[in-house]
Amino acid sequence: MGNRLLIQLMLACIIWCACQVESEETTIPDEFVMKLFKLIQDDQKNNLMLSTQKPPFYRRPGLYTSLTKNNFHGKPNSAVGRTIGVFDNNLFTTNFINTMLLEAYYRGRAPAPSSEQLRMPLDLVPIFMDQNKPYESSIAAYWPMAFDEKTMFWRSNSENHLALFDLLKTIQQLPLYDTLSFLGYSDFADFIKYFEKLGHELLTIAFIPMDTDCTVINLGVGSILLQGKDKFPLAWEQWKGYNTNLSSALDSIKDYSYRPFSGDSDSSSIDPRSYYVFRHFLDEAKAAGKDVALPTTWTQSRKELSWQKDKGMAMYRNVNNVCLGVTANTVYGITSSILSGLVNISVLDDPLLAQIYHNSSALLLHSLANNMTGRPDLALVYYPSRVQVEWFISRSLAKLEDAVSNGPLPSPVLGFVYKSLKAAMRVHATQRLVEAAQAGSGNTLFFEEFLGTDDFSATGASIKTGEDRIFSTGMALNVLINSWTSFDSKRGTLKWVTGTPHTVKLTVSRTAAWLTQNTFSGKYRPGGAFFAGSYKWESTWPNYYPGNRYQFYNGTTIHDWKTQKPNSSTSFFMEGYVSPDSYSAMLGQTWFGGPTPRDFHGYNAEKKPFFAYWESEPLTYTITMQGLSMYRNIEE
Ligand SMILES: *[C@@H]1O[C@H](CO)[C@@H](O)[C@H](O)[C@H]1NC(C)=O
Ligand SMILES: *[C@@H]1O[C@H](CO)[C@@H](O)[C@H](O)[C@H]1NC(C)=O
Ligand SMILES: *[C@@H]1O[C@H](CO)[C@@H](O)[C@H](O)[C@H]1NC(C)=O
Ligand SMILES: *[C@@H]1O[C@H](CO)[C@@H](O)[C@H](O)[C@H]1NC(C)=O
Ligand SMILES: *[C@@H]1O[C@H](CO)[C@@H](O)[C@H](O)[C@H]1NC(C)=O
Ligand SMILES: *[C@@H]1O[C@H](CO)[C@@H](O)[C@H](O)[C@H]1NC(C)=O
Repeated sequence: MGNRLLIQLMLACIIWCACQVESEETTIPDEFVMKLFKLIQDDQKNNLMLSTQKPPFYRRPGLYTSLTKNNFHGKPNSAVGRTIGVFDNNLFTTNFINTMLLEAYYRGRAPAPSSEQLRMPLDLVPIFMDQNKPYESSIAAYWPMAFDEKTMFWRSNSENHLALFDLLKTIQQLPLYDTLSFLGYSDFADFIKYFEKLGHELLTIAFIPMDTDCTVINLGVGSILLQGKDKFPLAWEQWKGYNTNLSSALDSIKDYSYRPFSGDSDSSSIDPRSYYVFRHFLDEAKAAGKDVALPTTWTQSRKELSWQKDKGMAMYRNVNNVCLGVTANTVYGITSSILSGLVNISVLDDPLLAQIYHNSSALLLHSLANNMTGRPDLALVYYPSRVQVEWFISRSLAKLEDAVSNGPLPSPVLGFVYKSLKAAMRVHATQRLVEAAQAGSGNTLFFEEFLGTDDFSATGASIKTGEDRIFSTGMALNVLINSWTSFDSKRGTLKWVTGTPHTVKLTVSRTAAWLTQNTFSGKYRPGGAFFAGSYKWESTWPNYYPGNRYQFYNGTTIHDWKTQKPNSSTSFFMEGYVSPDSYSAMLGQTWFGGPTPRDFHGYNAEKKPFFAYWESEPLTYTITMQGLSMYRNIEE
């Protein structure tokens, strides 16, 4: 009898709890979504009007705003530096925004972008493509390409940054420079000095090769335009016209892949930082007799480097790396291209491409399951905001989940990737996000990364600006929805996958509630570090990590490690595989004067030298709009 009462009581409790969950549903008015949509559209229009300005203020028509900033933080005189940014003419940000707008339209029934909005940036596609190849190529670049008459070679042109470097040089000669320190802005003065000191190195960073990330993001754009070709026929035709040889993109993923066990000197070489952070994955593979092939960042081999550098195109520190963000985007590029029909499923008959796709998803799962070995600063070479890589991965999972709900996946490799990403997102990323969520006012939850978390007032009191809260919370909302819903193409709505935990649903609705309450409250800036350079401070210096090859970029070995210090002409890297025992011994040594940095204390732990990050308000708004419109479109 007593037991029965207990059971009835428990049942009542469960029903009551379930009702509580439902009653917490957040309502997002149409006007709210419309307001976000307008802000994004207006940003592109405003840039169109300002596009006639000269470097360092030049804006290419069609691009949304994306600013390069530096992570100044601490005292007010320093933190104010985060308000200064330079307009960066990259297609990467705009590609993300337009892709997200289309995704929001399909999966969230958000307003459709205008065909003009889609078309303008597509006009720019050719200048962001590899022009040095004797054939049509879809290998893409972060910055526009410019032809250098002297070398008869197309190379990357970061436009505003080059003009800015000159400007900073000039400033250092002016009386203003001393005044800066005198007025208490010593961080700025130090920053300018740092720029000057780094001068030569900065130029090598500006003249980067084409890269895998931009190449696979372009595949994502093509995939979604193909999906929407009935609604946006002109945009699709235009993209297709510029991308007549997609095998060049897929070939580049293979040609520059990292294959540590290949025995080939070029493909088995990698940045010592990447080896350090991913070595446990390699150790496990080696022990199990499994091979490894992974996408790298740069589409440049060491052989190509040896002559392309003289023409002004080289990887930072003359070596390639593996970044989890790039890995996740590669998985998305391949997944979306196949599932949309942009490329034939038979591309996976190529064993190397199939292996890269397979091993990439295994690395993503391994990294999320192991907290990125506590070193997101090395694992996420270009994406300091951790929630962002989770977002990248969740986008592939959503695509695969949609496909699964319509029938069996077209290849066992896709099945493997699906299984790996499901575990990565539904177990590890979900757990991390649920733990990372912070309580806002009322029943709301928010997320934040690192911008504005380490500032203080003149008297030393801590100031939390919450500068990347909208960005991080919007992204977390997208991650959870992408990971736990599938799209019902008949009804045009999203539904929770069977067995979605209540905690997830609750986190989603409370996150949506925070965004509704705060996006336009004026309390928080729509900031967010969506991109960064690989070098952030001394502990991200590649030559403090164990390596076994030291040479000039032309391939000539350097024997004297003591007196010949690494510089922009040298290349230090890890070739092949090193057993855990040997690696431990290497970790006990110092490398070019430094012990290997073992710990990461957050992106604000080091005050200098003000690492560069990229921020885009329209991207923040797009992410928020996509998250909220998908949330509205979930049918219980
Ligand atoms: C397409 O790209 C590949 C390189 O990946 C190249 O070998 C081939 O010639 C190109 N085809 C055309 C038609 O340009
Ligand atoms: C994919 O390629 C195969 C041949 O490799 C061909 O039989 C098939 O029709 C192609 N599928 C599509 C959708 O083009
Ligand atoms: C990499 O992929 C291949 C399949 O193409 C597989 O045989 C191998 O085991 C994978 N390696 C790892 C570490 O999962
Ligand atoms: C994960 O790594 C971060 C450093 O990025 C560290 O602060 C955190 O404590 C780690 N979490 C766990 C569960 O080990
Ligand atoms: C490579 O560069 C080094 C340093 O500039 C030079 O000493 C060496 O002769 C060069 N090797 C070749 C093969 O050009
Ligand atoms: C780099 O170091 C090498 C050897 O120490 C030296 O010959 C070369 O001039 C240096 N290059 C630059 C750009 O500093």
